Amino acid sequence: MGIKARTRVKEALSSKEYGKELTLKGWVRTRRGNKKIAFISLNDGSTINNIQIVADVPLFGDALLKKITTGSCISVTGELKESMGKGQNVEILAKKIELYGTADPSSYPLQKKGHTLEFLREIAHLRPRTKTFGAVLRIRHAMAYAIHKFFNDKGFYYLHTPVITGADAEGAGEMFRVTTLDISNPPMTEDNKVDYKQDFFGRETNLTVSGQLEAELGALALSEVYTFGPTFRAENSNTPRHLAEFWMIEPEMAFCDIEDNMDLAEEFLKYLLVRLLDQCGEDIEFLAGMYDEELTNRIRHVAENEFIRISYGEAVDILSGSGQKFEFPNHWGADLQSEHERFLVEKHFKKPVIITGYPKEIKAFYMKQNDDGITVRAMDVLFPRIGEIIGGSQREEDMDKLEKRIKEMNIPRDELWWYLDTRRFGTAPHSGFGLGFERLMLFVTGMSNIRDVIPFPRTPNNAEF
Ligand code: 4AD
Ligand code: MG
Repeated sequence: MGIKARTRVKEALSSKEYGKELTLKGWVRTRRGNKKIAFISLNDGSTINNIQIVADVPLFGDALLKKITTGSCISVTGELKESMGKGQNVEILAKKIELYGTADPSSYPLQKKGHTLEFLREIAHLRPRTKTFGAVLRIRHAMAYAIHKFFNDKGFYYLHTPVITGADAEGAGEMFRVTTLDISNPPMTEDNKVDYKQDFFGRETNLTVSGQLEAELGALALSEVYTFGPTFRAENSNTPRHLAEFWMIEPEMAFCDIEDNMDLAEEFLKYLLVRLLDQCGEDIEFLAGMYDEELTNRIRHVAENEFIRISYGEAVDILSGSGQKFEFPNHWGADLQSEHERFLVEKHFKKPVIITGYPKEIKAFYMKQNDDGITVRAMDVLFPRIGEIIGGSQREEDMDKLEKRIKEMNIPRDELWWYLDTRRFGTAPHSGFGLGFERLMLFVTGMSNIRDVIPFPRTPNNAEF
């Protein structure tokens, strides 16, 4: 069988079975050499490192070897040998080479090294073949797997929440409409509005901005659940930290208050960072060398130090007493801008910060109201270089208070009857949070643009494939 017969480059590189015959398959990074001998550097995505294939030119012929250019795909069977060359322990002495696919050097976009990340975004269909994106995608996989492992080991259940929904979880209204109506000629009601009763679902529907409301339904039955899925926001913010389609991890726990929620968030993030350093060392080292010398230290520093916990009020006091000039001056009641968040984390505390007790006006309707009548039990986790990486809260479990808030905020109550039922029937204190997966990826890879930590970024004017 093809796959069984193939050895991955990663395994071959760490093997000591000299003399053994192996078959490797992959894409050519470079070919160099002379009239007698050719050196082909091969990679199959299993590791950042390439394996050197040594090919005897007379044995294979110039005609074949000339077609083995950067980007071409080959299968090589040969003998594993200890290498005398610098920077590698083993090489493959080729006995048989099969050429699967050529890559014309005059048109292959990755013919040369050292492309800018901006250029690579334009050829997102080929960039997984670069060292940088190989490393990013392997780390992305390792982090996704670690997330599932963390929650599974804690007894949480993975809850699949819907992508298409009739609810606006964050009340922000920045949603993508889902419809099968003919938008150039939609059915109209008598009072001249689009008649969504005739749409596919018999109502208005959108892509979800968060699985939280459904996760709450799960938590109030299974106690501890988490979601991990794509979420969509139609905010037209073309920043290095926003995507229109991003992945979010949302744990939701019954019998859990804001303190427990903060403890879990901190434990969770540290767990991921420790596993990352343990399992993705080579990829991290490569990215650190290319983009961010401080990467490993920064990850270690966050993994090893306690996060600072302060209230929104304290944060505002620190900012106004700092003497620092901000583009957006801060005052009590205003949302913290990313420049404020980064000042607190990077300059003032030099550690991750969790801020709680935000004014209710700047937070979502579902957050638990404090007795002061002014603030809610929100929590934002702020990271160096990133700003907000997690947003969460204890939820308002009291039906009367929740209904009052929904009314104050002019949220259509009828659309949330199912959510409110959890407060009518067996309500319980509960909390949860959302981790933006790509924000985490920014932190762990040292990349500075969120478009470079997801395989196929969706941003304004960008959704070709
Ligand atoms: O703070 P947010 O909006 O919170 C929620 O959606 C809650 N329902 C979560 C919960 O309590 N279950 O988003 C959570 C996180 C942010 O902290 C940020 O990391 C990320 O999602 N995020 C984005 N990531 C990339 N692009 C965007 N446009 C993002 N918007 C939010
Ligand atoms: Mg938020």
